Amino acid sequence: MGYPDVRPRRLRRTPALRRLVAEVQPAPRELVLPMFVREGLTEPRPITSLPGVVQHSRESLRKAVVEAVQAGVGGIMLFGVPQTRDAVGSGGIDPAGILNVAIRDVVSEVGDATVVMSDLCLDEFTSHGHCGLLAPDPSAPGGVVVDNDATLARYAEMALAQAEAGAHLLGPSGMMDGQIGHVRRALDAAGHTDVGLLAYAVKYASAFYGPFREAVESALDGDRKAYQQDPANAREALREVALDVAEGADIVMVKPALPYLDVVSAVAAAVDVPVAAYQISGEYAMVEAAVANGWLDRDRAVVETLTSIRRAGAQIILTYWAVRAAKLLSALG
Ligand code: PBG
Repeated sequence: MGYPDVRPRRLRRTPALRRLVAEVQPAPRELVLPMFVREGLTEPRPITSLPGVVQHSRESLRKAVVEAVQAGVGGIMLFGVPQTRDAVGSGGIDPAGILNVAIRDVVSEVGDATVVMSDLCLDEFTSHGHCGLLAPDPSAPGGVVVDNDATLARYAEMALAQAEAGAHLLGPSGMMDGQIGHVRRALDAAGHTDVGLLAYAVKYASAFYGPFREAVESALDGDRKAYQQDPANAREALREVALDVAEGADIVMVKPALPYLDVVSAVAAAVDVPVAAYQISGEYAMVEAAVANGWLDRDRAVVETLTSIRRAGAQIILTYWAVRAAKLLSALG
């Protein structure tokens, strides 16, 4: 049977019909707000390339987290911006480092009322901006490589610092081989068996991280192509995910989101753990720039992108619009 007996438009006629047959609708509880906290600030500082997003002071972070919880978001993901950096990222491991201090602040403010997550990576804390420790390699461009195995030891130390500060879920985002298993064993050996891992399992070497680099004042000169994935590869994503699940990932994430919905979908079909996607800084910035020019309706664009990511199979979405979107989605009912 076809037209004229079949008319798909019948189910689109009224808002009530459309609501009845909608396959997915992202819920506030599925949204996670990434937040930046900068050492030494007394007032929040705007991030030019992420309009509406700020580097928080410790005090403003506490308030913003309470606001996010009240809006109904599912969790927050914390990134720390230190005042000083060194070659080995000591600030990430130091219990008095900005990220660890901020985790404590937030946990003391909201406790278990939301899920407190923290970025487990060295790039915000290293003077060279790479996600790990550097080792000389005459054959590599620049004469150095990121040393996978030496970096794992640092991640383990950083994980313990974050767990001790009270984070519920740690987000290893450095794309080192074996990072999930290594961090899991370190946490377990220290008695932190309840601290979970949200694995940045599939993380592409993306141009769309640009605004994030401003947000964390990244010192990176060069790129991360020797450890993050090639945007051309989808099969490789399934390999990365399978390894992370086998190593004990509690949740796996694909990042960026919108340019990689095919990957989100394939990953969701392949695993039995929850799947997250990170709508990253460049995805946010593109829409905000168009909105600022009067070229897009922000609220519609926000809901549409989140719906697309949800439809592709991500159940959890990290997005800088989490609070705005939670309010919009609550209003939709
Ligand atoms: C690494 C990290 C990055 C992002 C999240 N964790 C940057 C990178 O890999 O270069 C990017 C997030 C975004 O662009 O919104 N610590």
